[in-house]
Amino acid sequence: MKHIFKKGSPSKPVLLLLHGTGGTEQDLLPLADLIDPEASVLSVRGNVSENGMPRFFKRLAEGIFDLEDLAVRTEELYDFIGQAADKYGFDRNNVLAIGYSNGANIAGSLLFHYENALKGAILHHPMVPLRDKKLPDLTNVPVFITAGINDPICPPEETNELESLLKGAGAATEVYWHKNGHQLTQDEVQEAQLWYKKQN
Ligand code: MLT
Repeated sequence: MKHIFKKGSPSKPVLLLLHGTGGTEQDLLPLADLIDPEASVLSVRGNVSENGMPRFFKRLAEGIFDLEDLAVRTEELYDFIGQAADKYGFDRNNVLAIGYSNGANIAGSLLFHYENALKGAILHHPMVPLRDKKLPDLTNVPVFITAGINDPICPPEETNELESLLKGAGAATEVYWHKNGHQLTQDEVQEAQLWYKKQN
């Protein structure tokens, strides 16, 4: 997968950056710098193109995911993280995802599919990636979710449902709400930074 790797301190988590629809591997680099400038960064570009806009998996319509493609792309990303760990010499079990929108959704899908895919996750405006699936054991996996109470793409009920599914699997979830819509705001990024500092 097209990506950027920046080597940082081995004592810090590797920040896996996953952009939103139409983004690139460049988009979330400033977030990583803010969250932890000493951490290694693996920033990936989604392999799917929707009319030229990169995404991490196909969708049939706004908010309606192609679940077959989601499963295939989730596995592809999971395998890619393993390959990158071998190539760049980082610990596969020390990866913390930071995703926005479509990137948060594939990060959520990694959590839904694999017990050890992520050490933790910051999910900005995620949806429920898929339903009717038994989640793996996520005991104590820290997950920080940010959401907008006026988000038309991801309504509050969807955020609550995602949190309860993750919690049900044992994850240590926290949700930060703001009054805006789907856009990423400065305050939610700052809250994510505070949350990260408590964990690391
Ligand atoms: C998705 O397709 O993953 C969500 O609808 C969010 C987005 O627009 O990327």
